[in-house]
Amino acid sequence: MTEPDVGVGPHPRPWPDDPRLDPDLLREGDRRNVVDRYRYWKVEAIVADLDARRHPFWVAIENWRHDLNIGTVVRTANAFNAAGVRIVGRRRWNRRGAMVTDRYMHIHHHPDVASLREWAVGEELPVIGIDLLPGSIPLETYPLPRRCVLLFGQEGPGLSPAAREASVDVCHITQFGSTRSINAGVAAGIAMHTWIRRWVFGQT
Ligand SMILES: C[S@@+](CC[C@H](N)C(=O)[O-])C[C@H]1O[C@@H](n2cnc3c(N)ncnc32)[C@H](O)[C@@H]1O
Repeated sequence: MTEPDVGVGPHPRPWPDDPRLDPDLLREGDRRNVVDRYRYWKVEAIVADLDARRHPFWVAIENWRHDLNIGTVVRTANAFNAAGVRIVGRRRWNRRGAMVTDRYMHIHHHPDVASLREWAVGEELPVIGIDLLPGSIPLETYPLPRRCVLLFGQEGPGLSPAAREASVDVCHITQFGSTRSINAGVAAGIAMHTWIRRWVFGQT
């Protein structure tokens, strides 16, 4: 069975006179996983356009072990146009799960939570820990600040004591079943969308 064509083929001549467009893509076609608005655009032009309207929330992950989860977070952060992703503890990860979205994101590394905290303090950004812990606050009714860092704990142990200490509040996504937690990448997606609902759609 032949794979269906994804994206668009070569652009008909004459080509538009637009410096954002990539001559190679115009010639060969654009099969990338980008929204139609960015068809044939150079990567740097897409990044510049995204930069002009990024949402002021950052996503931080603490010592995540599974590359697919890291990739999922980067891809979701791109979909919601987060300001950036801060990876605490791990420099090398297999980017396959990000489906190339890492090219359009600002990804920063921190050796430990202390370094993340120092950066957040410098930027006057409150860190909101996201985990289901004794005393944590339901995210569903929490007044998430517009500018903030959403910090997610490691698969298994969750937020470390240092991460809890660095957080102004810890919020949980309310659960109703028997499992102690949901997948960390899924939790990150829900939390990011909670920010979107509040700050893009005005839902409290
Ligand atoms: C496996 S969970 C943490 C485990 C949990 N603290 C426990 O007691 O088993 C890993 C990460 O996923 C995220 N997470 C999973 N379920 C969550 C939920 N219901 N609410 C908020 N965060 C959640 C958090 O960021 C958490 O640190």
